[in-house]
Amino acid sequence: MPPKRHLISLSDLSTAEVLNLLDLAERMAAAIGLDDGKAGAPVHPLDRILATLFYEPSTRTRLSFESAMLRLGGQVLGFADPAASSATKGETVADTARMVSAYANVIVIRHPLAGAAKVAADSASVPVINAGDGAREHPTQTLTDLFCIRRELGTLEGLKVGLCGDLKYGRTVHSLAPVMAQWGCEIIGIAPDELAMPEESIARVRAAGGTYTATASLEEAIGDLDVLYMTRVQRERFPSPEDYERVKGVYVLTPEILQRGKETLRVLHPLPRVDEIAPGVDADRRAAYFRQAAGGVPVRMALLALLLHLPCTKDTSGAAGFGKAHRPAIQPLGEAPAPEPTVSGPPCQNPKCITSTEPHLPAEWYERELGLVCAYCERPMGVPQ
Ligand code: NCD
Repeated sequence: MPPKRHLISLSDLSTAEVLNLLDLAERMAAAIGLDDGKAGAPVHPLDRILATLFYEPSTRTRLSFESAMLRLGGQVLGFADPAASSATKGETVADTARMVSAYANVIVIRHPLAGAAKVAADSASVPVINAGDGAREHPTQTLTDLFCIRRELGTLEGLKVGLCGDLKYGRTVHSLAPVMAQWGCEIIGIAPDELAMPEESIARVRAAGGTYTATASLEEAIGDLDVLYMTRVQRERFPSPEDYERVKGVYVLTPEILQRGKETLRVLHPLPRVDEIAPGVDADRRAAYFRQAAGGVPVRMALLALLLHLPCTKDTSGAAGFGKAHRPAIQPLGEAPAPEPTVSGPPCQNPKCITSTEPHLPAEWYERELGLVCAYCERPMGVPQ
């Protein structure tokens, strides 16, 4: 039996595995008629169940995972509101994940605290996928972003990528920036000081061989960019409503500002948007965000297929609902890249770390260039949030 794999961070996949997954997602896109708007391909029943454990609101991520599993022929169960789960009775994420492993073949979890998906993976006996853990990471959004960028621009390499908005609390950019850096992209962070990219994320970009420059001006930066990745100011992660009020609405991409962008520029956004992209931008060909969101289904189909070792990832026999067209075989996921070694130390001080509500967890730290970071939330030791 191939090894059980999880997706907690994009660093769990090698570059070759990411490309393999994007290729499989292209096959899934063709099978479900993504580009011609046809109804999904007929599926054969698949004896697999996906559990979605959503402790935080979601529209796209949860529904696209459910759609992906249903289109693969499998079934779904789960909760979209923790108030309807035993979390309200004080059940830990570790216990929930261990138990749900008996009900499903793969678990997708979203949680407001950083490190929750790692905790679930450590105690589950089935693959666990991180659908967003606090402000830390959102790896399946990044896979969706990469799928969109490669389709729109034909490459992932050597691009100038502007990340704009809430780079402090936005988990999507924390996952995306280091991966784009691996492909030799230049990362330009467009944010006011209050929403600047955390030092440890910038360090990951540089460690991946990329460059990171910061600016506060969208108008000045936009003209050079190949990708402009807009983000929502993450109201729910601010320490107080006043802190949020000070920065809300800080950037609004309007058709006038977009005029300064190249013809080949593509504007992405993980969605939902609040006011950071004016609706007048939607009609511009360069606005790729709704195409980006649609790509979330084939990307998640590919990820589920690979983690579940479905036959459609190995041969062309038409298993799991996919046709008999002759296509090159997709490689299954191999061994996971080696996990970082941990050292023990004092408990993490970050109130947004999963260790703050699950004190049974052993305090573990990674040694990084900037010093020790918590193995759950990846915040540096002594930096509360
Ligand atoms: C993002 C998230 O949840 O982090 N949404 C998503 O999954 N598409 C972005 C956001 O909520 O702003």
